[in-house]
Amino acid sequence: MASSRRRSRPTSTGARGPLALPRRARPEPLTTPRLPLDRRSLESADFAIVDSLDPVVKAQQCFDDLLIPADHPGRLPSDTYYISRPGGKEESSAADTLLRTHTSAHQSTLMREGKEAFLCTGDVYRRDEIDASHFPVFHQMEGVKLFDPAVVGGAMTREEWLASEGCQLIAADLKKTLEGMCDELFGPVEKRWIDEYFPFTEPSFELEIFYNGDWMEVLGCGVIHSGVLENAGLQERHGWAFGLGLERLAMVLFAIPDIRLFWTDDKRFTKQFTAGQYDTFKPYSKYPPCKKDIAFWIPDGFEPNDFYELGRGVAGELVETVALIDEFTNPKKGKTSHCYRVTYRSMDRSLTDEEINALQNELRSKTESELGVELR
Ligand code: DAH
Repeated sequence: MASSRRRSRPTSTGARGPLALPRRARPEPLTTPRLPLDRRSLESADFAIVDSLDPVVKAQQCFDDLLIPADHPGRLPSDTYYISRPGGKEESSAADTLLRTHTSAHQSTLMREGKEAFLCTGDVYRRDEIDASHFPVFHQMEGVKLFDPAVVGGAMTREEWLASEGCQLIAADLKKTLEGMCDELFGPVEKRWIDEYFPFTEPSFELEIFYNGDWMEVLGCGVIHSGVLENAGLQERHGWAFGLGLERLAMVLFAIPDIRLFWTDDKRFTKQFTAGQYDTFKPYSKYPPCKKDIAFWIPDGFEPNDFYELGRGVAGELVETVALIDEFTNPKKGKTSHCYRVTYRSMDRSLTDEEINALQNELRSKTESELGVELR
């Protein structure tokens, strides 16, 4: 499983058409601009750095090991790129193969291997909407730290654990560590903790910081759920975990306005950043957008994510946003119509009318033939 760097990107999800990823599946979003997150802030404990695990995992690792139930919406093929059963609408099973949707997919394996503390970074894949902050592949960093049972306690029931001092000690250490990391990244910022729910941590939190005049979510975290540790054969152990999205953080830190920029080869972008340095992005030029609407009657079971995926497949990085701008139901016909506004714009050049019309026509015909919609 622990392959070296992935050589080629997965090119197809099968029946649903090509996975609309850019040419390079492992570009430099982690090095251009290089996030100063990686080692420094967490170096105090001996965190193993794990950053070359294969993104192709079993649903067992990505979901079941983490107590994510079979009917969880995140497991649907409209959200997750399955490799073993492309396009299926049924529930996923533990044996399915897929592109990891989060780096938490490696938590259990790494703990089982005996790692006590680690930072696991990698590309993660999600079918999602299309706008300036969403891209079907992005990067996350997962942090895990296990504690000495002599200090926090060993095997006990879940209720005993949650009421114990050990659990509080771990939650306090987690908060202190992550607040320190935020200070290092953003300077001494105002922070707040929000109670959250994740199936794999208990209790669970989200950390927000007040930055550029707004509260911003930075990461999710918590005390590792006893059930996750039991599944990993570590019923005697306890610890904390966190997960954070790297592009989103980098976009804020470096004032990068569009997530597609991480994938550009344009020197005007790549030259602006130096490893280990906080540079603010200076926009070099903005090319004109071109907006095209498409309206259709949707069939039963229509998933907007399928339409977005089709848009990615047709226009790749040239599609900037796809927004549902109108939706209504005709009571007589019993049919619902969706109208989407597709904004085309390149980060690096002007697009011609011809090229955009060709893309829009292809999108129209594929939407009809592949999604079974009735164009209006
Ligand atoms: N895996 C979560 C996500 O992708 C993030 C996360 C939350 C990771 C809590 C964790 C955690 O390790 O404890 O949204």
